[in-house]
Amino acid sequence: MAIRLAVLGRACQPSRRVAVRDFSATPSRRCLSQDANRSIAQLLQWRPAGEAAGVVVNGYVRSVRSMKGHRFVSLGDGSSLPPLQAVVPVDQGEGLTIGAAVRLTGSWLPSPGAGQTHELHTSSVEIVGPSDAKTFPVQKKYHTSEFLRTMPHLRPRTPINATLLRMRSDAIASLTHFFASQAFTQTHPPIITSSDCEGAGEVFTLEPATKGSSAPNQSIPEPPFFRSKKYLTVSTQLHLEALAQSVGHVWTLSPVFRAERSDSSRHLSEFYMLEAEMSFVDDLGSIMDFAELMLRSLSTDLFGSSTVQELLSRPSQTGSDLAPVDVVRRRWEGLMRPTWPRITYTEAVALLQENADIFSQKPIWGVGLGAEHEKYLAETVGGGQTPVFVTDYPRDIKAFYMRAAPLDLASAESGSDTSSPGSTVECFDLLVPELCEIAGGSMREHRLMPLVDAMKRQGFAAPALDATGNAGPRSDGDLDWYVDLRRWGCPPHGGFGVGFDRLLAYLSGVSTIRDIAAFPRWFGRCDC
Ligand code: 4AD
Ligand code: MG
Repeated sequence: MAIRLAVLGRACQPSRRVAVRDFSATPSRRCLSQDANRSIAQLLQWRPAGEAAGVVVNGYVRSVRSMKGHRFVSLGDGSSLPPLQAVVPVDQGEGLTIGAAVRLTGSWLPSPGAGQTHELHTSSVEIVGPSDAKTFPVQKKYHTSEFLRTMPHLRPRTPINATLLRMRSDAIASLTHFFASQAFTQTHPPIITSSDCEGAGEVFTLEPATKGSSAPNQSIPEPPFFRSKKYLTVSTQLHLEALAQSVGHVWTLSPVFRAERSDSSRHLSEFYMLEAEMSFVDDLGSIMDFAELMLRSLSTDLFGSSTVQELLSRPSQTGSDLAPVDVVRRRWEGLMRPTWPRITYTEAVALLQENADIFSQKPIWGVGLGAEHEKYLAETVGGGQTPVFVTDYPRDIKAFYMRAAPLDLASAESGSDTSSPGSTVECFDLLVPELCEIAGGSMREHRLMPLVDAMKRQGFAAPALDATGNAGPRSDGDLDWYVDLRRWGCPPHGGFGVGFDRLLAYLSGVSTIRDIAAFPRWFGRCDC
């Protein structure tokens, strides 16, 4: 007997929040019309004992297998890694080619075949977006990541890349919920900035493509569009600090841009950074506690989602460029573990020096850690399982805004030379096995005079200070506004930035960050 179920209609009610939310199955993901737009993920979870008639499903043809009286059509819509199987009579089969967008209507019923519990027996097939199978580049066969990277506009249609898109979306939903639950305010800092926040010279400059029509004399150089040079942001931190002085704890997930001429699997020219800034926080430990809590909450929340479970139970032939499933599972488990080790940079260098022979670059105090050092630390200190915090780096290899470690404050006050080896700042890098640094954070120098000193030491224009430490006139430097924040009610504060694409690459198992950004940009490549 045919039963017409209203179950899927209920799907459009907002889902109740539970400890582990199943984001992919959240029915409101597809809610345009209760009858017509049920996702394939929803259908696959619906297992009626008998036949349910009048089911409509939209999707893209992944493959077609022709039998004598009918065709087996494998249909995907990006909502689940496994496809839906449709059984289509031969007389309805015209136009059912790989890549075609179709609307199928029929009965949903238990399947006698292996590989699926239910299948759709179609009564009508509508080709709503034809596809020329001969020229469609994304065929059913295995394509290397490298090949797919050459066509970023079509790559999202592969089942695994659709799953990665859903995982990103689920992660953002989870983070939004987490930060709200912790009374953080979500903010939108600017993309166009006046300064290189990190001082590493990796900014892209911004200028109009065409000259203004009002220029009376072409021989006189036109003034810059914004009166002075502007850049694309490399980190929203400095602006977040200003906003944190208004509403307390703040966060953002923003695109940032870095002109690094790096051809590594960890660097993009455009990527998303998840940044948080916390006011009235006295010590770095609290910042690390919070970063840990946030990442543990995210991983715990997402782990039970159908998107992540699909990634962890994918068939072995799905994306052989992905890390093995057991490795990826270990990464999730590591992030969900209750405590992550913390060691200082000085301890880390001592540890590395004990094994100096195995490194191509000798570990030296005062020099940045290389990828091989970071990998070693993540493997040994974290046992290859949990992330590892490395703290208190030398002042001279870190950004100007980081607060001097307490030891050095004492020596600064006693007038001794803080540039001697041993001067450190209250900061951390968070390292994970294989991918190295996924986050960096610090206490910020919230006191006017030490900040101005640090800026001068690193060659930034900064206002003069009088003998008593009171700020003199503004310097007209790009960072005058940032110094201003220290003049009026600047509490101790700190924060961190997580490389969101690196985090997702790590948790999904893709071998390069270029496969986690939908439209990756890196040195020499910006395809569409
Ligand atoms: O360590 P970074 O440079 O820290 C900052 O920018 C701070 N201002 C953040 C803050 O405290 N609010 O960058 C943060 C993270 C790194 O740990 C790394 O994971 C990621 O951003 N990252 C990149 N990810 C992809 N491509 C690149 N080119 C990246 N550069 C940094
Ligand atoms: Mg860093």
